[in-house]
Amino acid sequence: MALVSLWQDRHPARDLEQQPVEGHADVVVVGGGITGLMTALLLGRAGRSVTLLEAEHVGHGTTGRSTAKVSLLQGTQLSQIAQRHAADVVVDYVVANTEAQAWVARFCDDHQVDVQRRPAYTYAHGSRGRTAARRELTLARRAGLDATWQDELDLPFPTAGAVRLDNQLQLDPMELLHALAEQATAHGVRIVEGARVLKVRSEDRVRVETESGTMVADRLVVATNMPILDRGGFFARAHPARSYGIAFATDQPRVDGMYLSADAPSRSLRDVPTADGSLLLVGGAGHTTGRGAPESTRFDSLRRWTAEHYPGARETHAWSAQDYVPAHALPYVGPLVPRQERILVAGGYSKWGMTNGVAAALALAAEILGGHIEWARVMRTWSRHEVSGAPEHLRINGEVGFEMARGWVRPLRPASEGPQEGTGRVRYDHLGAPTAEATVNGHTARVSAVCTHLGGIVRFNDAERTWDCPLHGSRFGPDGEVVEGPAVCGLRRA
Ligand SMILES: Cc1cc2nc3c(=O)[nH]c(=O)nc-3n(C[C@H](O)[C@H](O)[C@H](O)COP(=O)(O)OP(=O)(O)OC[C@H]3O[C@@H](n4cnc5c(N)ncnc54)[C@H](O)[C@@H]3O)c2cc1C
Ligand code: FES
Repeated sequence: MALVSLWQDRHPARDLEQQPVEGHADVVVVGGGITGLMTALLLGRAGRSVTLLEAEHVGHGTTGRSTAKVSLLQGTQLSQIAQRHAADVVVDYVVANTEAQAWVARFCDDHQVDVQRRPAYTYAHGSRGRTAARRELTLARRAGLDATWQDELDLPFPTAGAVRLDNQLQLDPMELLHALAEQATAHGVRIVEGARVLKVRSEDRVRVETESGTMVADRLVVATNMPILDRGGFFARAHPARSYGIAFATDQPRVDGMYLSADAPSRSLRDVPTADGSLLLVGGAGHTTGRGAPESTRFDSLRRWTAEHYPGARETHAWSAQDYVPAHALPYVGPLVPRQERILVAGGYSKWGMTNGVAAALALAAEILGGHIEWARVMRTWSRHEVSGAPEHLRINGEVGFEMARGWVRPLRPASEGPQEGTGRVRYDHLGAPTAEATVNGHTARVSAVCTHLGGIVRFNDAERTWDCPLHGSRFGPDGEVVEGPAVCGLRRA
Protein backbone atom coordinates (compact mmCIF):
# COMPACT_ATOMS: atom_id res chain seq x y z
CA MET A 1 0.00 0.00 0.00
CA ALA A 2 1.35 3.44 -0.96
CA LEU A 3 1.95 5.69 2.03
CA VAL A 4 -0.44 8.51 1.16
CA SER A 5 -2.51 10.28 3.76
CA LEU A 6 -6.25 9.81 3.67
CA TRP A 7 -6.63 13.55 3.00
CA GLN A 8 -4.06 13.72 0.19
CA ASP A 9 -5.71 10.70 -1.40
CA ARG A 10 -9.10 12.45 -1.25
CA HIS A 11 -7.68 15.67 -2.74
CA PRO A 12 -4.95 14.65 -5.22
CA ALA A 13 -2.50 17.31 -6.38
CA ARG A 14 -3.57 19.08 -9.53
CA ASP A 15 -1.25 19.10 -12.55
CA LEU A 16 1.17 21.91 -12.00
CA GLU A 17 0.67 24.96 -14.15
CA GLN A 18 4.11 26.30 -14.98
CA GLN A 19 4.24 29.85 -13.67
CA PRO A 20 7.27 32.10 -13.85
CA VAL A 21 9.05 33.15 -10.67
CA GLU A 22 9.97 36.73 -11.52
CA GLY A 23 9.21 40.37 -10.75
CA HIS A 24 8.39 41.97 -7.43
CA ALA A 25 5.86 41.41 -4.64
CA ASP A 26 5.31 43.30 -1.39
CA VAL A 27 5.59 39.96 0.39
CA VAL A 28 6.82 36.53 -0.71
CA VAL A 29 5.57 33.66 1.44
CA VAL A 30 7.42 30.33 1.25
CA GLY A 31 5.38 27.20 1.99
CA GLY A 32 1.87 26.07 1.07
CA GLY A 33 0.83 24.61 4.43
CA ILE A 34 -1.62 26.11 6.90
CA THR A 35 0.80 28.83 8.08
CA GLY A 36 1.86 30.02 4.64
CA LEU A 37 -1.57 29.93 3.01
CA MET A 38 -3.30 31.71 5.83
CA THR A 39 -0.58 34.39 6.07
CA ALA A 40 -0.86 34.94 2.32
CA LEU A 41 -4.65 35.19 2.53
CA LEU A 42 -4.57 37.75 5.38
CA LEU A 43 -2.03 39.90 3.55
CA GLY A 44 -3.89 39.58 0.23
CA ARG A 45 -7.13 40.65 1.92
CA ALA A 46 -5.30 43.71 3.29
CA GLY A 47 -4.35 44.74 -0.24
CA ARG A 48 -0.70 43.66 -0.28
CA SER A 49 0.73 42.06 -3.41
CA VAL A 50 1.70 38.54 -2.35
CA THR A 51 3.35 35.58 -4.09
CA LEU A 52 3.37 32.21 -2.35
CA LEU A 53 6.11 29.81 -3.45
CA GLU A 54 5.56 26.11 -2.73
CA ALA A 55 8.23 23.52 -3.52
CA GLU A 56 5.76 20.79 -4.46
CA HIS A 57 2.03 21.46 -4.22
CA VAL A 58 -0.38 22.88 -1.67
CA GLY A 59 -0.69 20.43 1.25
CA HIS A 60 2.42 18.43 0.36
CA GLY A 61 3.90 19.01 3.84
CA THR A 62 2.80 18.21 7.36
CA THR A 63 -0.62 19.90 7.16
CA GLY A 64 -1.72 17.46 4.46
CA ARG A 65 -0.78 14.56 6.75
CA SER A 66 -2.01 15.96 10.05
CA THR A 67 -4.57 14.28 12.30
CA ALA A 68 -6.27 17.70 12.06
CA LYS A 69 -7.79 18.06 15.51
CA VAL A 70 -8.38 21.79 15.95
CA SER A 71 -8.39 21.55 19.71
CA LEU A 72 -7.58 23.64 22.78
CA LEU A 73 -7.01 20.48 24.78
CA GLN A 74 -3.64 19.37 23.41
CA GLY A 75 -2.47 16.24 25.20
CA THR A 76 -0.18 17.51 27.96
CA GLN A 77 1.12 20.55 26.08
CA LEU A 78 0.17 23.03 28.81
CA SER A 79 2.24 20.99 31.30
CA GLN A 80 5.20 21.16 28.91
CA ILE A 81 4.88 24.95 28.75
CA ALA A 82 4.27 25.35 32.51
CA GLN A 83 7.48 23.40 33.28
CA ARG A 84 9.49 26.12 31.54
CA HIS A 85 7.47 29.33 31.81
CA ALA A 86 5.45 31.50 34.15
CA ALA A 87 1.68 31.10 34.50
CA ASP A 88 0.89 34.15 32.32
CA VAL A 89 2.68 32.51 29.38
CA VAL A 90 0.38 29.49 29.65
CA VAL A 91 -2.62 31.82 29.67
CA ASP A 92 -1.39 33.75 26.61
CA TYR A 93 -0.76 30.47 24.79
CA VAL A 94 -4.36 29.40 25.45
CA VAL A 95 -5.68 32.81 24.35
CA ALA A 96 -3.66 32.57 21.10
CA ASN A 97 -5.00 29.10 20.38
CA THR A 98 -8.56 30.12 21.28
CA GLU A 99 -8.45 32.99 18.78
CA ALA A 100 -6.98 30.70 16.17
CA GLN A 101 -9.63 28.05 16.72
CA ALA A 102 -12.39 30.67 16.45
CA TRP A 103 -10.82 31.95 13.20
CA VAL A 104 -10.84 28.41 11.72
CA ALA A 105 -14.46 27.85 12.82
CA ARG A 106 -15.57 31.14 11.19
CA PHE A 107 -13.61 30.53 8.02
CA CYS A 108 -14.99 26.99 7.63
CA ASP A 109 -18.51 28.23 8.25
CA ASP A 110 -18.16 31.03 5.67
CA HIS A 111 -16.61 28.81 3.01
CA GLN A 112 -18.49 25.51 3.43
CA VAL A 113 -15.54 23.51 4.81
CA ASP A 114 -16.91 20.48 6.62
CA VAL A 115 -16.14 20.51 10.37
CA GLN A 116 -17.22 18.12 13.11
CA ARG A 117 -17.58 19.16 16.74
CA ARG A 118 -16.39 16.54 19.21
CA PRO A 119 -15.23 16.39 22.83
CA ALA A 120 -11.43 16.22 23.13
CA TYR A 121 -9.85 13.90 25.71
CA THR A 122 -6.38 13.60 27.19
CA TYR A 123 -6.66 10.08 28.60
CA ALA A 124 -4.48 7.89 30.81
CA HIS A 125 -3.47 4.26 30.25
CA GLY A 126 -2.18 3.93 33.83
CA SER A 127 -1.30 5.76 37.05
CA ARG A 128 1.53 7.88 35.56
CA GLY A 129 -0.76 9.03 32.82
CA ARG A 130 -3.47 9.77 35.36
CA THR A 131 -1.12 12.04 37.32
CA ALA A 132 -0.06 13.79 34.10
CA ALA A 133 -3.66 14.19 32.92
CA ARG A 134 -4.71 15.55 36.35
CA ARG A 135 -1.92 18.15 36.16
CA GLU A 136 -3.09 19.14 32.68
CA LEU A 137 -6.65 19.51 33.97
CA THR A 138 -5.49 21.92 36.70
CA LEU A 139 -3.51 24.01 34.20
CA ALA A 140 -6.32 24.04 31.65
CA ARG A 141 -8.82 25.23 34.26
CA ARG A 142 -6.40 27.88 35.54
CA ALA A 143 -6.02 29.15 31.98
CA GLY A 144 -9.78 29.53 31.68
CA LEU A 145 -10.73 26.36 29.78
CA ASP A 146 -13.93 24.65 30.86
CA ALA A 147 -12.24 21.24 31.17
CA THR A 148 -13.65 18.45 33.37
CA TRP A 149 -12.51 15.04 34.64
CA GLN A 150 -14.10 11.81 33.45
CA ASP A 151 -13.35 8.47 35.12
CA GLU A 152 -15.03 6.09 32.68
CA LEU A 153 -14.42 6.25 28.93
CA ASP A 154 -16.24 4.58 26.09
CA LEU A 155 -13.12 2.90 24.71
CA PRO A 156 -12.47 -0.83 24.10
CA PHE A 157 -9.31 -0.96 26.28
CA PRO A 158 -8.57 -0.20 29.95
CA THR A 159 -8.04 3.45 30.84
CA ALA A 160 -7.46 5.38 34.06
CA GLY A 161 -9.59 8.47 33.39
CA ALA A 162 -9.29 11.53 31.19
CA VAL A 163 -9.48 15.30 30.96
CA ARG A 164 -12.41 16.26 28.75
CA LEU A 165 -13.04 19.48 26.86
CA ASP A 166 -16.29 19.69 24.91
CA ASN A 167 -17.05 21.31 21.61
CA GLN A 168 -13.65 21.05 19.88
CA LEU A 169 -13.22 20.74 16.11
CA GLN A 170 -11.88 18.19 13.66
CA LEU A 171 -11.74 18.45 9.87
CA ASP A 172 -10.09 17.32 6.66
CA PRO A 173 -6.95 19.50 6.47
CA MET A 174 -6.69 19.32 2.66
CA GLU A 175 -10.24 20.61 2.33
CA LEU A 176 -9.27 23.54 4.56
CA LEU A 177 -6.04 24.21 2.63
CA HIS A 178 -7.82 24.20 -0.72
CA ALA A 179 -10.43 26.65 0.59
CA LEU A 180 -7.63 28.89 1.93
CA ALA A 181 -5.84 28.71 -1.44
CA GLU A 182 -9.03 29.54 -3.31
CA GLN A 183 -9.75 32.54 -1.10
CA ALA A 184 -6.14 33.71 -1.26
CA THR A 185 -6.23 33.55 -5.06
CA ALA A 186 -9.54 35.45 -5.07
CA HIS A 187 -7.77 38.18 -3.10
CA GLY A 188 -4.98 38.47 -5.64
CA VAL A 189 -2.36 36.13 -4.13
CA ARG A 190 -0.27 34.38 -6.78
CA ILE A 191 0.37 30.76 -5.73
CA VAL A 192 3.28 29.16 -7.58
CA GLU A 193 3.62 25.42 -7.05
CA GLY A 194 6.71 23.41 -7.98
CA ALA A 195 8.96 26.35 -6.98
CA ARG A 196 11.50 25.23 -4.40
CA VAL A 197 13.31 28.16 -2.81
CA LEU A 198 17.06 27.49 -2.89
CA LYS A 199 18.61 30.69 -1.70
CA VAL A 200 17.64 34.04 -0.17
CA ARG A 201 19.73 37.21 -0.19
CA SER A 202 18.73 40.11 1.99
CA GLU A 203 19.98 43.46 0.74
CA ASP A 204 17.78 46.58 0.55
CA ARG A 205 15.13 44.11 -0.63
CA VAL A 206 14.95 40.33 -0.41
CA ARG A 207 16.03 38.29 -3.46
CA VAL A 208 14.42 34.87 -3.51
CA GLU A 209 16.02 32.29 -5.82
CA THR A 210 14.18 29.16 -6.93
CA GLU A 211 14.87 26.39 -9.42
CA SER A 212 12.62 28.20 -11.89
CA GLY A 213 13.52 31.87 -11.44
CA THR A 214 14.26 34.71 -9.07
CA MET A 215 12.03 37.41 -7.63
CA VAL A 216 12.37 40.29 -5.19
CA ALA A 217 10.18 41.30 -2.28
CA ASP A 218 10.06 43.90 0.49
CA ARG A 219 9.34 41.21 3.09
CA LEU A 220 9.75 37.44 3.18
CA VAL A 221 7.80 34.96 5.33
CA VAL A 222 9.38 31.51 5.61
CA ALA A 223 6.57 29.10 6.58
CA THR A 224 8.33 25.82 5.83
CA ASN A 225 7.79 24.30 9.28
CA MET A 226 11.54 24.13 10.03
CA PRO A 227 12.96 27.32 8.41
CA ILE A 228 15.00 26.50 5.30
CA LEU A 229 17.35 29.38 6.16
CA ASP A 230 20.05 28.41 8.65
CA ARG A 231 20.98 31.90 9.81
CA GLY A 232 18.61 31.86 12.80
CA GLY A 233 19.85 28.43 13.93
CA PHE A 234 16.31 27.19 14.63
CA PHE A 235 17.36 23.66 13.63
CA ALA A 236 19.53 23.61 16.77
CA ARG A 237 16.65 24.55 19.07
CA ALA A 238 14.02 22.02 18.02
CA HIS A 239 13.92 18.32 17.21
CA PRO A 240 12.05 16.68 14.33
CA ALA A 241 9.32 14.38 15.70
CA ARG A 242 8.04 11.83 13.20
CA SER A 243 4.85 9.86 13.82
CA TYR A 244 2.42 7.57 12.06
CA GLY A 245 -1.26 7.49 11.14
CA ILE A 246 -3.44 4.65 9.88
CA ALA A 247 -7.12 4.87 8.84
CA PHE A 248 -9.36 1.82 9.29
CA ALA A 249 -12.87 0.86 8.23
CA THR A 250 -14.51 -0.86 11.20
CA ASP A 251 -17.92 -2.30 12.06
CA GLN A 252 -17.68 -1.02 15.63
CA PRO A 253 -19.52 2.16 16.70
CA ARG A 254 -17.66 5.33 15.83
CA VAL A 255 -15.19 6.59 18.41
CA ASP A 256 -17.11 9.29 20.32
CA GLY A 257 -14.39 11.96 20.59
CA MET A 258 -10.82 12.99 19.79
CA TYR A 259 -8.48 11.10 22.12
CA LEU A 260 -4.78 11.48 22.90
CA SER A 261 -2.95 9.49 25.57
CA ALA A 262 -0.96 11.18 28.33
CA ASP A 263 1.32 8.15 28.81
CA ALA A 264 2.80 5.30 26.80
CA PRO A 265 1.89 3.84 24.43
CA SER A 266 1.24 7.17 22.75
CA ARG A 267 -2.04 6.83 20.85
CA SER A 268 -4.26 9.33 19.07
CA LEU A 269 -7.82 8.44 17.97
CA ARG A 270 -10.53 10.24 16.03
CA ASP A 271 -13.27 9.37 13.57
CA VAL A 272 -13.52 10.49 9.95
CA PRO A 273 -17.02 10.69 8.49
CA THR A 274 -17.35 9.29 4.95
CA ALA A 275 -20.26 8.58 2.61
CA ASP A 276 -20.04 4.90 3.65
CA GLY A 277 -19.91 5.43 7.41
CA SER A 278 -17.12 6.38 9.70
CA LEU A 279 -13.40 5.55 9.55
CA LEU A 280 -11.25 5.17 12.65
CA LEU A 281 -7.98 7.11 12.54
CA VAL A 282 -5.24 5.73 14.82
CA GLY A 283 -2.00 7.69 15.31
CA GLY A 284 1.16 7.38 17.39
CA ALA A 285 4.44 5.41 17.58
CA GLY A 286 6.46 8.64 17.31
CA HIS A 287 10.25 9.04 17.41
CA THR A 288 12.94 11.51 16.41
CA THR A 289 13.35 11.38 12.62
CA GLY A 290 16.10 9.03 11.45
CA ARG A 291 16.70 7.50 14.89
CA GLY A 292 15.64 4.42 16.84
CA ALA A 293 13.91 1.25 15.63
CA PRO A 294 13.19 0.81 11.89
CA GLU A 295 10.22 2.84 10.66
CA SER A 296 8.34 -0.26 9.38
CA THR A 297 8.12 -1.54 12.98
CA ARG A 298 6.32 1.67 13.99
CA PHE A 299 3.50 0.95 11.55
CA ASP A 300 3.46 -2.68 12.73
CA SER A 301 3.00 -1.63 16.36
CA LEU A 302 -0.03 0.54 15.45
CA ARG A 303 -1.49 -2.31 13.36
CA ARG A 304 -1.06 -4.84 16.17
CA TRP A 305 -2.59 -2.50 18.75
CA THR A 306 -5.59 -1.77 16.52
CA ALA A 307 -6.14 -5.46 15.70
CA GLU A 308 -6.19 -6.21 19.43
CA HIS A 309 -8.67 -3.47 20.38
CA TYR A 310 -10.71 -3.08 17.19
CA PRO A 311 -10.85 -6.65 15.83
CA GLY A 312 -11.84 -6.83 12.18
CA ALA A 313 -10.67 -3.25 11.44
CA ARG A 314 -9.61 -3.03 7.76
CA GLU A 315 -6.76 -0.68 6.87
CA THR A 316 -7.53 1.88 4.16
CA HIS A 317 -4.60 4.32 4.39
CA ALA A 318 -1.27 4.52 6.20
CA TRP A 319 1.10 7.47 6.28
CA SER A 320 3.65 9.33 8.31
CA ALA A 321 4.63 12.95 8.95
CA GLN A 322 6.86 15.11 11.09
CA ASP A 323 6.60 18.29 13.08
CA TYR A 324 9.23 20.19 15.06
CA VAL A 325 9.26 20.32 18.86
CA PRO A 326 11.16 23.35 20.20
CA ALA A 327 13.22 23.08 23.37
CA HIS A 328 11.21 25.87 25.00
CA ALA A 329 7.84 24.23 24.14
CA LEU A 330 6.46 27.33 22.38
CA PRO A 331 6.19 28.09 18.65
CA TYR A 332 8.76 30.47 17.13
CA VAL A 333 7.17 33.30 15.14
CA GLY A 334 9.04 36.47 14.15
CA PRO A 335 12.33 37.73 12.73
CA LEU A 336 14.82 35.15 11.43
CA VAL A 337 17.62 37.07 13.13
CA PRO A 338 17.27 39.63 15.93
CA ARG A 339 16.16 43.15 15.02
CA GLN A 340 15.89 42.45 11.28
CA GLU A 341 12.23 42.47 10.41
CA ARG A 342 12.63 41.88 6.68
CA ILE A 343 12.66 38.06 6.93
CA LEU A 344 10.12 36.41 9.25
CA VAL A 345 9.79 32.73 10.12
CA ALA A 346 7.17 30.56 11.82
CA GLY A 347 7.08 26.95 13.00
CA GLY A 348 7.82 24.67 15.93
CA TYR A 349 4.22 23.79 16.79
CA SER A 350 4.93 20.56 18.72
CA LYS A 351 2.23 18.76 16.68
CA TRP A 352 -0.41 21.41 17.41
CA GLY A 353 -0.10 23.51 14.26
CA MET A 354 -3.77 23.39 13.25
CA THR A 355 -4.29 26.14 15.82
CA ASN A 356 -0.72 27.39 16.37
CA GLY A 357 -0.10 27.76 12.60
CA VAL A 358 -3.22 29.92 12.43
CA ALA A 359 -2.11 31.95 15.47
CA ALA A 360 1.30 32.35 13.80
CA ALA A 361 -0.34 33.66 10.62
CA LEU A 362 -2.39 36.18 12.62
CA ALA A 363 0.78 37.34 14.38
CA LEU A 364 2.83 37.54 11.15
CA ALA A 365 0.14 39.47 9.29
CA ALA A 366 -0.21 41.90 12.22
CA GLU A 367 3.55 42.41 12.27
CA ILE A 368 3.71 43.13 8.52
CA LEU A 369 0.61 45.35 8.51
CA GLY A 370 1.74 47.34 11.55
CA GLY A 371 -0.76 45.93 14.05
CA HIS A 372 -0.15 44.67 17.56
CA ILE A 373 -1.38 41.44 19.14
CA GLU A 374 -0.71 41.14 22.85
CA TRP A 375 -0.49 37.33 23.02
CA ALA A 376 1.97 37.19 20.10
CA ARG A 377 4.80 37.95 22.56
CA VAL A 378 4.78 34.34 23.83
CA MET A 379 5.61 33.06 20.35
CA ARG A 380 8.09 35.75 19.41
CA THR A 381 11.50 34.61 18.20
CA TRP A 382 14.51 35.84 20.19
CA SER A 383 12.35 36.71 23.19
CA ARG A 384 13.29 35.90 26.78
CA HIS A 385 10.91 32.92 26.59
CA GLU A 386 13.28 31.15 24.22
CA VAL A 387 16.11 31.38 26.78
CA SER A 388 14.14 29.15 29.12
CA GLY A 389 14.83 26.31 26.68
CA ALA A 390 18.63 26.59 27.09
CA PRO A 391 19.18 23.33 29.08
CA GLU A 392 17.03 21.48 26.56
CA HIS A 393 19.00 23.08 23.66
CA LEU A 394 22.12 21.55 25.17
CA ARG A 395 20.49 18.14 25.34
CA ILE A 396 19.22 18.38 21.74
CA ASN A 397 22.64 19.43 20.48
CA GLY A 398 24.39 16.76 22.53
CA GLU A 399 22.24 14.14 20.81
CA VAL A 400 22.83 15.74 17.42
CA GLY A 401 26.61 15.67 18.04
CA PHE A 402 26.39 12.01 19.01
CA GLU A 403 24.36 11.12 15.89
CA MET A 404 26.80 13.09 13.72
CA ALA A 405 29.79 11.22 15.13
CA ARG A 406 28.03 7.87 15.03
CA GLY A 407 27.10 8.31 11.36
CA TRP A 408 30.68 9.05 10.39
CA VAL A 409 32.52 6.48 12.51
CA ARG A 410 30.14 3.53 12.16
CA PRO A 411 32.11 0.77 10.44
CA LEU A 412 30.75 0.74 6.90
CA ARG A 413 31.95 -2.24 4.97
CA PRO A 414 32.17 -2.22 1.18
CA ALA A 415 29.77 -4.71 -0.42
CA SER A 416 29.93 -6.27 -3.85
CA GLU A 417 26.19 -6.64 -4.53
CA GLY A 418 23.44 -4.00 -4.46
CA PRO A 419 20.94 -4.05 -1.58
CA GLN A 420 17.81 -6.18 -1.81
CA GLU A 421 14.52 -4.72 -3.04
CA GLY A 422 13.07 -2.20 -0.56
CA THR A 423 16.27 -1.91 1.46
CA GLY A 424 19.13 0.55 1.62
CA ARG A 425 22.52 0.78 3.30
CA VAL A 426 25.39 3.19 3.77
CA ARG A 427 28.92 2.12 2.92
CA TYR A 428 32.23 3.67 1.95
CA ASP A 429 32.97 3.81 -1.76
CA HIS A 430 36.45 3.07 -3.14
CA LEU A 431 37.50 6.68 -2.38
CA GLY A 432 36.34 6.38 1.21
CA ALA A 433 33.24 8.58 0.76
CA PRO A 434 30.05 7.46 2.55
CA THR A 435 27.61 6.32 -0.12
CA ALA A 436 23.91 5.59 0.30
CA GLU A 437 22.62 2.84 -1.93
CA ALA A 438 19.03 1.62 -2.10
CA THR A 439 17.03 -0.64 -4.38
CA VAL A 440 13.48 0.57 -4.95
CA ASN A 441 11.18 -0.79 -7.68
CA GLY A 442 14.03 -2.84 -9.11
CA HIS A 443 16.33 0.14 -9.55
CA THR A 444 19.49 0.53 -7.45
CA ALA A 445 20.56 4.14 -6.93
CA ARG A 446 23.79 5.32 -5.35
CA VAL A 447 24.03 8.81 -3.89
CA SER A 448 26.22 10.54 -1.37
CA ALA A 449 25.18 9.67 2.20
CA VAL A 450 26.15 13.16 3.40
CA CYS A 451 23.13 15.36 4.11
CA THR A 452 23.36 18.62 2.17
CA HIS A 453 22.09 20.59 5.16
CA LEU A 454 24.97 20.33 7.61
CA GLY A 455 26.70 17.05 6.85
CA GLY A 456 24.82 14.39 8.85
CA ILE A 457 24.93 10.82 7.55
CA VAL A 458 21.50 9.75 6.33
CA ARG A 459 19.73 6.53 7.32
CA PHE A 460 17.40 4.39 5.20
CA ASN A 461 13.71 4.60 6.15
CA ASP A 462 12.41 1.12 5.30
CA ALA A 463 8.73 2.13 5.43
CA GLU A 464 8.83 5.15 3.13
CA ARG A 465 11.97 4.21 1.20
CA THR A 466 13.64 7.51 1.81
CA TRP A 467 16.96 8.63 3.23
CA ASP A 468 16.32 10.44 6.55
CA CYS A 469 18.84 12.60 8.37
CA PRO A 470 19.03 11.93 12.13
CA LEU A 471 20.38 15.43 12.85
CA HIS A 472 17.60 17.87 11.90
CA GLY A 473 15.13 15.77 9.94
CA SER A 474 15.85 16.48 6.25
CA ARG A 475 14.59 13.66 4.04
CA PHE A 476 15.55 12.57 0.52
CA GLY A 477 14.17 10.16 -2.09
CA PRO A 478 16.14 7.07 -3.19
CA ASP A 479 17.62 9.08 -6.08
CA GLY A 480 18.65 11.83 -3.67
CA GLU A 481 15.89 14.39 -4.39
CA VAL A 482 14.70 16.52 -1.44
CA VAL A 483 11.50 15.19 0.15
CA GLU A 484 11.48 17.66 3.02
CA GLY A 485 13.84 20.25 4.49
CA PRO A 486 15.54 22.04 6.12
CA ALA A 487 17.86 20.88 3.27
CA VAL A 488 17.11 22.57 -0.05
CA CYS A 489 19.55 20.60 -2.26
CA GLY A 490 19.36 16.89 -3.04
CA LEU A 491 22.02 14.30 -2.14
CA ARG A 492 24.85 14.32 -4.68
CA ARG A 493 24.97 11.49 -7.22
CA ALA A 494 27.65 9.01 -6.21
C1 LIG B 1 1.46 12.94 12.62
C2 LIG B 1 1.05 14.34 12.95
C3 LIG B 1 -0.24 14.60 13.41
C4 LIG B 1 -0.61 15.90 13.72
N1 LIG B 1 -1.87 16.13 14.21
C5 LIG B 1 -2.22 17.39 14.56
C6 LIG B 1 -3.50 17.64 15.12
O1 LIG B 1 -4.33 16.74 15.27
N2 LIG B 1 -3.80 18.91 15.48
C7 LIG B 1 -2.91 19.94 15.33
O2 LIG B 1 -3.21 21.06 15.72
N3 LIG B 1 -1.68 19.71 14.79
C8 LIG B 1 -1.33 18.48 14.40
N4 LIG B 1 -0.10 18.25 13.87
C9 LIG B 1 0.79 19.38 13.60
C10 LIG B 1 0.38 20.19 12.37
O3 LIG B 1 -0.10 19.32 11.36
C11 LIG B 1 1.59 20.98 11.88
O4 LIG B 1 2.12 21.70 12.96
C12 LIG B 1 1.22 21.97 10.79
O5 LIG B 1 0.51 21.30 9.77
C13 LIG B 1 2.46 22.66 10.23
O6 LIG B 1 2.01 23.53 9.22
P1 LIG B 1 3.03 24.41 8.40
O7 LIG B 1 2.21 25.22 7.46
O8 LIG B 1 3.90 25.15 9.33
O9 LIG B 1 3.97 23.38 7.64
P2 LIG B 1 3.67 22.41 6.41
O10 LIG B 1 2.27 21.98 6.33
O11 LIG B 1 4.72 21.34 6.48
O12 LIG B 1 3.95 23.32 5.15
C14 LIG B 1 5.24 23.71 4.77
C15 LIG B 1 5.30 23.73 3.26
O13 LIG B 1 6.55 24.29 2.88
C16 LIG B 1 6.97 23.66 1.70
N5 LIG B 1 8.41 23.86 1.57
C17 LIG B 1 9.40 23.29 2.29
N6 LIG B 1 10.61 23.70 1.86
C18 LIG B 1 10.37 24.57 0.84
C19 LIG B 1 11.23 25.33 -0.03
N7 LIG B 1 12.56 25.25 0.06
N8 LIG B 1 10.65 26.11 -0.98
C20 LIG B 1 9.29 26.19 -1.10
N9 LIG B 1 8.44 25.46 -0.31
C21 LIG B 1 8.98 24.68 0.65
C22 LIG B 1 6.59 22.21 1.91
O14 LIG B 1 6.50 21.50 0.68
C23 LIG B 1 5.26 22.34 2.63
O15 LIG B 1 4.15 22.25 1.74
C24 LIG B 1 0.31 16.96 13.56
C25 LIG B 1 1.60 16.70 13.11
C26 LIG B 1 1.98 15.40 12.81
C27 LIG B 1 3.37 15.14 12.35
S1 FES C 1 19.13 17.89 8.44
FE1 FES C 1 20.73 19.05 9.28
S2 FES C 1 22.47 17.86 8.81
FE2 FES C 1 20.86 16.75 7.89
